[in-house]
Amino acid sequence: MKVLVTGGCGFLGSHVCEFYARKGASVISYDNMTKHELARTGFAAAAARNYNWNYLKKLGVKLVKADVRNFKALADYSSGCDYIIHTAAQPAMTISWEDPVLDATTNVMGTFNVLEAARRHKIPVAACATIHIYGNKINEELREAKTRYVRKPAAIDEKYEILQGMLSPLHASKAAGDIYMRTYIDTYKTQAASFRLTGIYGTRQFGGEDHGWVANFAIRSVFGWPLTMFGTGKQVRDIVYAADVCEAFHAFYRTRASGVYNIGGGVKTMISLLDCVDILEELNGARPEVKFAADRYGDLRYFVCDTDKAKKQLGWTPKIMPEEGIRRLLEWIKANKQAFTGKK
Ligand SMILES: NC(=O)c1ccc[n+]([C@@H]2O[C@H](COP(=O)([O-])OP(=O)(O)OC[C@H]3O[C@@H](n4cnc5c(N)ncnc54)[C@H](O)[C@@H]3O)[C@@H](O)[C@H]2O)c1
Repeated sequence: MKVLVTGGCGFLGSHVCEFYARKGASVISYDNMTKHELARTGFAAAAARNYNWNYLKKLGVKLVKADVRNFKALADYSSGCDYIIHTAAQPAMTISWEDPVLDATTNVMGTFNVLEAARRHKIPVAACATIHIYGNKINEELREAKTRYVRKPAAIDEKYEILQGMLSPLHASKAAGDIYMRTYIDTYKTQAASFRLTGIYGTRQFGGEDHGWVANFAIRSVFGWPLTMFGTGKQVRDIVYAADVCEAFHAFYRTRASGVYNIGGGVKTMISLLDCVDILEELNGARPEVKFAADRYGDLRYFVCDTDKAKKQLGWTPKIMPEEGIRRLLEWIKANKQAFTGKK
């Protein structure tokens, strides 16, 4: 089996590359190695950037530095592959406000190019959308709670209308990718799955304030740096561990049940930001210093996926619970401090 992973040197992409390399597949990581987001984290960007590249090299993954906006290169490298998994993206809402051109070209044209390569070569393709495409109207439907959570009674399924309420360029670009996926399924019968992903976390995640909040909190707690909580800390996500998402990609490869899917931890992994700090305190033996700041425009205060469709059609359910996933993440950070500081 030969697999092409766009964004293979990113957080999720590196897990997908590892997952297939360990299955004995021939794996190509196709990544432009941008430092755009890493440069904003305060970590040593070069050390952080090279970490996944070096990790995958040792696993025998073929590393290609190339851009999803370059259709010709993408079509050439994907030729002869059995599966394309598209994780490359401009993933941060903050960056989408500041640089809508980068956001649109990467997320819209990048996803379009991946799909078009898949269509021409008749390769099944799975791509990463995000639960953000449902829009921020959910915020208006919340009941403020005196407990640790903002509460909305039900988990949200794929029938929930997308793009409701206030929109950012990220909503538009990720939704466009999701709509193109559906379009290629309908028009060209491309075997394709668009995963509407909730907050993902795991090892090899260089999370900062723009993107990857669980890792951002975990990294800061290990280094003793204060972390900033935007809003009350009662925001809720059904976080999902990266290895579980890899299993979901493989479930689509096995079933070829094309469509859009919510991929998240579901109700049982729902945690608030404050819960996450509690878990970090318990696992680290010290409570991280927390600073509160104003709510950020565009932040979604609640999201819990209904993952029934993925269970029924892909036979997939998430397995790793937050305490276990965060424990693995902390162990990795502690063993790899130089990847954040650049110092031996
Ligand atoms: N991490 C999360 O919590 C989360 C949540 C919802 C959805 N997603 C989606 O999952 C996917 C993976 O996210 P991630 O957290 O691993 O992000 P990431 O930033 O760690 O990885 C993305 C990778 O894509 C690469 N890339 C960016 N632009 C590129 C381009 N033009 N050409 C080639 N490569 C390019 C980057 O260099 C990076 O290595 C994204 O589509 C993201 O929107 C992530």
